[in-house]
Amino acid sequence: MTKLSLPPHSPLLSKNFVYGVATASFQIEGGSQDRLPCIWDTFCDTPNKIVDSSDGHTACDHYNLWRDDIDLIESLGVDAYRLSISWPRVMTQDAKLNPVGVKFYTDILDELKRRNIKAFVTLYHWDLPQHLEDEGGWLNRQTAYAFEHYVNLITKAFGDRVHSYATLNEPFCSAFLGYEIGIHAPGKVGKEYGRKAAHHLLLAHGLAMSVLKQNSPNTLNGIVLNFTPCYSLTQSDEDLKATAFADDYLNQWYIKPIIDAQYPDIINQLPLNHQPEILEGDMELISQSIDYLGINFYTRQVYKAHPTDIYEPIAPTGPLTDMGWEIYPQSFTDLLVSLNKTYTLPPIYITENGAAMPDTYNNGEVNDLDRLSYYNTHLNAVHNAIEQGVVIHGYFAWSLMDNFEWAEGYLKRFGIVYVDYKTQQRTIKNSGLAYKELISKR
Ligand code: FCB
Repeated sequence: MTKLSLPPHSPLLSKNFVYGVATASFQIEGGSQDRLPCIWDTFCDTPNKIVDSSDGHTACDHYNLWRDDIDLIESLGVDAYRLSISWPRVMTQDAKLNPVGVKFYTDILDELKRRNIKAFVTLYHWDLPQHLEDEGGWLNRQTAYAFEHYVNLITKAFGDRVHSYATLNEPFCSAFLGYEIGIHAPGKVGKEYGRKAAHHLLLAHGLAMSVLKQNSPNTLNGIVLNFTPCYSLTQSDEDLKATAFADDYLNQWYIKPIIDAQYPDIINQLPLNHQPEILEGDMELISQSIDYLGINFYTRQVYKAHPTDIYEPIAPTGPLTDMGWEIYPQSFTDLLVSLNKTYTLPPIYITENGAAMPDTYNNGEVNDLDRLSYYNTHLNAVHNAIEQGVVIHGYFAWSLMDNFEWAEGYLKRFGIVYVDYKTQQRTIKNSGLAYKELISKR
């Protein structure tokens, strides 16, 4: 198979369905000399945190090569480009706009507009300014207000250049990976931290939504959440119960407050000192209406009960990506259908989906049939969800190009474009060519 194929007359073949590619500031930009340090710089400088001991100082050098990268994006024929704004690039330590950083993005946004590519802007994709972490980071309620202030200034500066804003990317990762199990920056470990960080992130989302409604009422404003659907190993009561807990703790924890204005009931089972401090008015702020929900999906996870802990994840056995993540496209459809049943949702955009594969670059070609097949089955999974009544308006491949994959450094390649990090040469992989063809033949 060298093509992506969908059933004839699939809504995914309509011109209205938005196709895009996604990136994030810290993962591609480099250019760190022109911005404040962020928590990922500090994390990269801490021994044994990043598998290949790399950092984000150069990354894909998008800071210098962004014009070429926009040519590349245009050459793929996509309708939209999802990028994130580096908070430490556009703000100074004394909470003013940094004109150099702002110009970097307004130049990009102007260029996208000129080429008719819709800009989907994420306002926070994990690169918290280090000086705010020094004050407690997301464990400090004040960080939510600092975010509100930054969003107010930057959205005014961007004016009408943007098509869609996301307040946050994957608050689960920021809170749970960053402040509970510590495998992401800032690397804090403790069950007493994770829920508190999550609450302040969600509060930041709510405060930013109010700002967006004021400053940018004509853009599509929402949030991007990730989901790893939970499956029970057996149908025993213990396993089902453990799996339901995991789902509430890891997935529903972030969507339920936004849509239903409350945390899952398991909040009452948590020790008091693990629970967030919820002030009056917080849940109303968090649950105000959003224009769309961004969903990121990569894999599923199977669980069973554990004798002493609450749940136990089972190592996957099925086909795996290079991340060791199980390839199980049916769970993508199941997830979308079940969210649609559980909640009253706004239109959905799939804001990330894709796979790391062990690519080989050969004579100007990367024949990544494994990634192509992943895209094929997952696009069809989206099609199946739409057939079952889920309203989905777009799909973004993660990622435009290979980049800094957080704790995995540069060892995992998620791009539909290959990056040679020595020369910074970009080569469209065969999956990227297939994506381009699918988009063009609509
Ligand atoms: C998501 C992140 C994105 C990328 C993919 C593989 O969790 O949003 O930055 O690293 O995973």
